[in-house]
Amino acid sequence: MAERFGVIELTSVVRERIGRYFPELAGHEPRVLLERRQSRRNSTLFSFLVSANACEQRLLVKLPHGPATWRRLDDGAVDDRPRLSPIPMADAKAQLEFTTLSRIRDHFTVRQDARFGAIRVLDFLPERQAVVMEHVPHPSLSRLMMTNCRPALWATNCDPALRNAGAWLRIYHDLPALGQTQDRHTSRDEFVGSLREFVEFLMRASQDSRLVERVAAQIESLAQSVLSEFLPLGMSHGDFAPRNIFVGPGQQVTVFDTLARWRAPIYEDIAHFLVSLKLSRPQVYSFGFAFRPDLIARYEEEFLRGYFDQDEIPLGAIRLYEKLLVLEKWAARVYRLREPRGIFRLAQLGAAALWSRAIRRQLLEPVTEPQAQAALSMS
Ligand SMILES: Nc1ncnc2c1ncn2[C@@H]1O[C@H](COP(=O)(O)OP(=O)(O)O)[C@@H](O)[C@H]1O
Ligand SMILES: [Mg+2]
Repeated sequence: MAERFGVIELTSVVRERIGRYFPELAGHEPRVLLERRQSRRNSTLFSFLVSANACEQRLLVKLPHGPATWRRLDDGAVDDRPRLSPIPMADAKAQLEFTTLSRIRDHFTVRQDARFGAIRVLDFLPERQAVVMEHVPHPSLSRLMMTNCRPALWATNCDPALRNAGAWLRIYHDLPALGQTQDRHTSRDEFVGSLREFVEFLMRASQDSRLVERVAAQIESLAQSVLSEFLPLGMSHGDFAPRNIFVGPGQQVTVFDTLARWRAPIYEDIAHFLVSLKLSRPQVYSFGFAFRPDLIARYEEEFLRGYFDQDEIPLGAIRLYEKLLVLEKWAARVYRLREPRGIFRLAQLGAAALWSRAIRRQLLEPVTEPQAQAALSMS
């Protein structure tokens, strides 16, 4: 979609509207410079530096892509893998992102809580399917956490940011439904249904079927006693991970990259975050050396405490969702391998072996919480 219009056209749109975006620049002839163009898997990002009258501002134009990872088969059918959250239509994504980021800003700024920031979204360009937003000058939580990789030469204390991320998610889960929001996977039966879909896909892709079957049987049996028939729902973020959280001064967190399309069990986002900590790229590619296990355990504790505060933490349910999401991740990795990647294929196969190793280890981690253990002995 980025190719629908050129950078020159985009630059002139930014120049034309700059007074609306930044009133302090209104009435001046601004200099608009494209500083960076970044092509990503799901979007293309254009970073602009705008200056006039000794004043400088940065903004970002994001063009979400369609489902580029889908393969069209010869008969026109779309070949995809099982997913908890279906991919949205390409043409709707920018508008949804604009609406969602605006609502998030309202939802959090009204609280005037120094722990939370919010991105100022400046515009939606319908004819270009683009979102314009202010540029946030802070590092992501994942970048900050990287400073604690072994050997940690300039370690940063990320604990408050992790706690704030947990607290942010709790409040976000209470965001009232938007026009595009629907409920999904509301019951234990649907949890089991998703589990079976992932398992079937992995077995068809002839992944370690004994392990997959064993883990699936364990999860299914625990699910009956650990999960309630209907699950607590919240507004789903869908990719709540350290890479989608900026950390500003005072460890203030600003979260982005969501479309608020679903209300889903709260355990999903929580488990997604924890799996992102345990199966981060540095951790996988370093055979688990990058982050000390006790550090990850502390991050997890801070995050969960941030979310649940004084409430009891439903660890059994969270662990079950972690396993479900690890299986989904495995399916995604297997699926990605089917994309032709020319000379990169060899490197891809190497990476796949590392992922598969880390994923297996994660699946073999026992679900040790007292609640889950009790359920196991009862079943
Ligand atoms: N408002 C912003 N300010 C600064 N950087 C941003 C902003 N929004 C996104 N980015 C950068 O671009 C990256 C991709 O943006 P994201 O919204 O996560 O897109 P994607 O859907 O492709 O994951 C982010 O990881 C972040 O580094
Ligand atoms: Mg992202």
